[in-house]
Amino acid sequence: MESILKIMTCGSVDDGKSTLIGHLLYDAKMLFTDQEKSLALESSALREDGVLDYSLLLDGLSIEREQGITIDVAYRYFATDKRSFIVADTPGHEEYTRNMAVAASQSDLAVLLIDASKGVLTQTRRHLRICSMMGIKEYVFAVNKMDVVNYKKDTFQTIYEDIMKLMEEIPHSHIQVIPLSALIGDNVTKKSNRMDWYEGPSLLEYLEVVDIETKIEEGFVMPIQRVARKDGIRYLQGNITSGNIHTEDEVTIYPGGATTKIKEIITSQKNVDSAKKGMAISVTLSSDIDISRGYVLVAGTSLKQTRMLEADILWMDENPMIEGKSYLLKLATQTINASMMKIKYGVDADTGKQIACRKIEKNGIACVDIACHEDLVFDGFEKHQALGRFILIDKVSNATAGCGTIKYALRRSENITRQIHDITPDLRAKALGQVPKTIWFTGLSGSGKSSLANEIEKLLVQEGKHTMLLDGDNVRLGINKDLVFNEYDRSENIRRVAEICKLMNDAGIIVITAFISPFERDRKMAKDIIGEDKYVEVYVSTPLEECERRDVKGLYRKARNGEIPNFTGINSPYEVPQNPNVEIDTSDSDIVDKTKELFERLKNHFK
Ligand code: ADX
Repeated sequence: MESILKIMTCGSVDDGKSTLIGHLLYDAKMLFTDQEKSLALESSALREDGVLDYSLLLDGLSIEREQGITIDVAYRYFATDKRSFIVADTPGHEEYTRNMAVAASQSDLAVLLIDASKGVLTQTRRHLRICSMMGIKEYVFAVNKMDVVNYKKDTFQTIYEDIMKLMEEIPHSHIQVIPLSALIGDNVTKKSNRMDWYEGPSLLEYLEVVDIETKIEEGFVMPIQRVARKDGIRYLQGNITSGNIHTEDEVTIYPGGATTKIKEIITSQKNVDSAKKGMAISVTLSSDIDISRGYVLVAGTSLKQTRMLEADILWMDENPMIEGKSYLLKLATQTINASMMKIKYGVDADTGKQIACRKIEKNGIACVDIACHEDLVFDGFEKHQALGRFILIDKVSNATAGCGTIKYALRRSENITRQIHDITPDLRAKALGQVPKTIWFTGLSGSGKSSLANEIEKLLVQEGKHTMLLDGDNVRLGINKDLVFNEYDRSENIRRVAEICKLMNDAGIIVITAFISPFERDRKMAKDIIGEDKYVEVYVSTPLEECERRDVKGLYRKARNGEIPNFTGINSPYEVPQNPNVEIDTSDSDIVDKTKELFERLKNHFK
């Protein structure tokens, strides 16, 4: 079968990119005669030296011609006896990184243009990093305008060495460096006799034979796009992104990892026995498992699931990316909320060096820790491209703000094995003669959480119980002093506290906590970490007006004056618990009565 090579070109107008593509198309005889004629006419109007201006072949980009910049991705098709080609002509101007990333994600090979009279520039480095981030492994460096430097071998040699040095940062890639002149046509489609010192092929000769390593992706993968129901049966619809599938095959469903079998496969309204990569299908399963958009079906491979990950991202938004902000993360068919936690380092586009930074400006590349607000199903980019690459969407403007590839899940627990000890949590609890629990108080600042927690602890100690009280303000002065009050840090605050509760419960201790814990998903996370049987949620529902009236710490006043950002209840939300074990409002009677009432209501949890 004749193969198709998908190429992208990177370079600026000045590098002669359009001329090069034009020349390739022209020599590959893809032009109609009349187009050739009009080109000659137009060219003669533009140039006086009688040389055809091949850049004019790239029609439809009139703005480029007027402003001298390429503004969008233009796809060109051409074919030779040996191969068909699709060329994505991507913008070289710094403004248009976004389009380049899009083109790179769909190409097999990148042709990077270098102006022989200028050498390797910052822009070349940036283009290379974007291509590499988007998964390109094949590179051709077209060292153009050799005519301008009198076809000198030395000039080429210096550039060649610079390229080699640059490529050290992009491991596992293949490269070819070709000296050429797009204007004259040296080494574009035919070998030039003006550069005898160059022994390699011309650009087209190389493109015709280059062997694109077919990425062998493991097993069958189908992200679910839609779930349709008919006559009580669930039809899971999606595109197969890798492998093939047969009826009766066993499949695993992520998230969760439940297994079942494929019952039916339907494509174009017909039942079929099998389907393969690239097809859009509907399947039914042998068991009725609750599945929705974003789930992924796999066979013969496994995927990963995480909430915390490290990723390389390319920023494309006018507004810089700042730590703590949350975006919609889209990966395959999943769309979830994700917070940018920490910028581990930025990458200096010029030197490739890691640099410390607190924000990523437009066109910047950085390595970032991301916290997903629910489980994200993914895989290494090398193993399953579609599941290793994502985009970030600004929740307000709805624009694509960045894109990236996942490096790994942050909780690298794969190499860690839980140790089993002879003294178990049960034995420790028995030794203390109590049932360890975590009484989790949640509510607004000033609602009475800390006072109630304090009183409840006193009553427990009077009964001879072993207890520990963890309070927001205190914990934030110690172990969590690195955290602030943005959404991400609040989550992390709760995660750490929940882990501490779990350890203390395992030691047999009854823990009482007093944290605002304003987000439902964080309280759910705490419950998951601590264990459903041990977690007792007390919602202190004293209304905002009352908390603000008390204003024990003077913080509401400050917040109203705009002195405290993200103050819960004022300029940051409090999500009311949907299902607390106990709800208590402290506005209407004194704390002693309230404590007694609460203690009664909690008693059966300690039996
Ligand atoms: S939580 O939201 O992360 O659960 P936590 O309970 O640890 O909050 O800390 C809340 C305490 O920090 C409040 O009682 C108040 O004293 C103080 N505080 C300081 N800034 C803020 C803020 N922006 N929002 C809420 N509480 C704040």
